[in-house]
Amino acid sequence: MIENIHLRSAKDTDYQSIYEINDLAFGQNSESNLIALLRQNKEFISELSIVAEMDNELVGHILFSKISIKNEDKQFESLALAPMAVRPSFQNLGVGVKLVLYGITEAKRLGFTSLIVLGHEKYYPKFGFKSASLWKIKAPFDVPDSVFMALELKEGALKDVFGTVCYPKEFNMIEAHSL
Ligand SMILES: CC(C)(COP(=O)(O)OP(=O)(O)OC[C@H]1O[C@@H](n2cnc3c(N)ncnc32)[C@H](O)[C@@H]1OP(=O)(O)O)[C@@H](O)C(=O)NCCC(=O)NCCS
Repeated sequence: MIENIHLRSAKDTDYQSIYEINDLAFGQNSESNLIALLRQNKEFISELSIVAEMDNELVGHILFSKISIKNEDKQFESLALAPMAVRPSFQNLGVGVKLVLYGITEAKRLGFTSLIVLGHEKYYPKFGFKSASLWKIKAPFDVPDSVFMALELKEGALKDVFGTVCYPKEFNMIEAHSL
């Protein structure tokens, strides 16, 4: 674990480093292209584009975007966690955990009550994420149950929520497996 990590919202001048971190971590530029597109979306929440900084160097980034969960009658607002990336030389030192925890705190502060993630089934449950199917919340694409997860930021927030997640259109550009 490293301790001298500072978490904060990203500034405009951080984005070149953010794209570089994503390109290095994912080994492709789909995620940085996604972030660049999402920044143009009027629903982009700049406070929830969060960087981890260490000795004036950016070492990680996490983004949360507004999504909706829709069924035939109703639509519920939620947030998607994607993408998250840590500079390869700083991985497995706890940076990712700090980014998720800080993101959760900020999302709560802004009044969001739930989170959805498509991600590693061993990584996210430590924050309390559970299979979204427990709430009958479905992905808009075919993915194994165990990797599509939800987290209530407020107790009972998803109690009456069910339906299919609707991502911002920019997500259609990238492959589900690399979120
Ligand atoms: C996934 C990622 C963001 C985690 O960040 P990190 O700072 O390395 O993670 P932390 O140090 O906070 O946590 C380390 C834990 O994550 C686990 N982990 C790291 N990469 C993982 C992966 N690809 N799949 C599953 N678990 C992973 C480690 O085994 C470790 O588990 P432990 O705490 O039980 O020992 C980072 O490894 C990364 O950028 N990976 C490439 C991009 C990516 O896959 N992004 C996530 C999309 S959901």
